[in-house]
Amino acid sequence: MVENKRTPDFSLNTQGISVHIDPMTFLVLSGMPDPGQYADVLTELDETLDVRVWPDAGDLSDIKYALAWQQEPGVLATLPNLKIIFSLGAGVEHVLGDPKLPDVPLVRFVDPDLTMRMGEYACLHVLMHQRRMLEYAALQRQGKWQELWPQPCASETRAGVMGLGVLGRNAAEKLHLLGFDVAGWSRSMKRSDGVTCFAGEDGLKPFLARTDILICMLPHTPGTHGILNAKLLSGLARDGQLPGPVLINAGRGKLQVEADILSALEAGDLWGASLDVFEEEPLPASSPFWAHPRVIVTPHNASITYSRALCRYVLAQVARHERGEALENVVDVKRGY
Ligand SMILES: NC(=O)c1ccc[n+]([C@@H]2O[C@H](COP(=O)([O-])OP(=O)(O)OC[C@H]3O[C@@H](n4cnc5c(N)ncnc54)[C@H](OP(=O)(O)O)[C@@H]3O)[C@@H](O)[C@H]2O)c1
Repeated sequence: MVENKRTPDFSLNTQGISVHIDPMTFLVLSGMPDPGQYADVLTELDETLDVRVWPDAGDLSDIKYALAWQQEPGVLATLPNLKIIFSLGAGVEHVLGDPKLPDVPLVRFVDPDLTMRMGEYACLHVLMHQRRMLEYAALQRQGKWQELWPQPCASETRAGVMGLGVLGRNAAEKLHLLGFDVAGWSRSMKRSDGVTCFAGEDGLKPFLARTDILICMLPHTPGTHGILNAKLLSGLARDGQLPGPVLINAGRGKLQVEADILSALEAGDLWGASLDVFEEEPLPASSPFWAHPRVIVTPHNASITYSRALCRYVLAQVARHERGEALENVVDVKRGY
């Protein structure tokens, strides 16, 4: 049980006006380490909030708002007065994994800081491969002064972004500003200045066929599970100026078939890769990716959620809701993102 920082529903009578104050009670449910950080930040931002951390939920009927990530399945359905579920990240598959999700809006995290970090990651890794930095780093370690050819410039390199949502679109536009020849692929057709857009199953083949460096920023859904497989990789352009195609995955690990990526790297269907996400996280010590000379491994930090930014966002959305305005970034649960 946690101490209630706000008295339950009561009425004030100020100059004859009766004001009804609803208690704002939050519950944080997360299978990740340190869920208490969100409670600390929320109460730091507004000390009148009543924030509880599962399993110390107190009276379940008090809870109006939930912050969830890998929550214990079935718990959200036991909160009779729940109004909104907030995902603790941009993705929502860890919340949607709950088979008894209640029928209330699920809001995902969208934030300029998160978008900026993902744009940085995309530009950094595209440039790393286009400028062949892994090979130059290896040559440096050998004390070798040697130029590598070919060395295409950005406008001679075709980047392709899978997923033109909040993050993918921003990354595509930044890559365009750097001079890359950029295309994007999404479920529905998009329009974006300087980005050649493809959509749906029919658009996938031509999109891949003109892509030298593939950047994946898709969500993990039943429709995208294992999409980065041998068949897809074999469809990437083979007439580019780099020694071979490159894969950059900053979406989710379950989008990729790691055995296929390794085989493609060995067979030359892939020249290099930057992987931020993995089928199993943390990446096991036995994974061949750790020591692969043409693979960059990062620990799922392409764009990290800061608890302060997330809590500010949650409170802004709650304020919208309390004012009777529409919530932003509500997930289409059926679609899965
Ligand atoms: N590595 C990290 O640190 C990190 C950090 C944050 C987020 N992420 C990942 O990035 C993902 C994307 O975030 P976001 O905010 O950009 O999501 P978003 O705004 O929901 O965009 C998702 C994009 O993917 C497209 N898409 C979904 N399913 C598809 C399918 N079956 N075929 C083709 N396109 C499909 C959507 O197409 P439509 O536009 O047609 O709907 C949309 O363009 C998150 O779900 C999360 O997994 C990773």
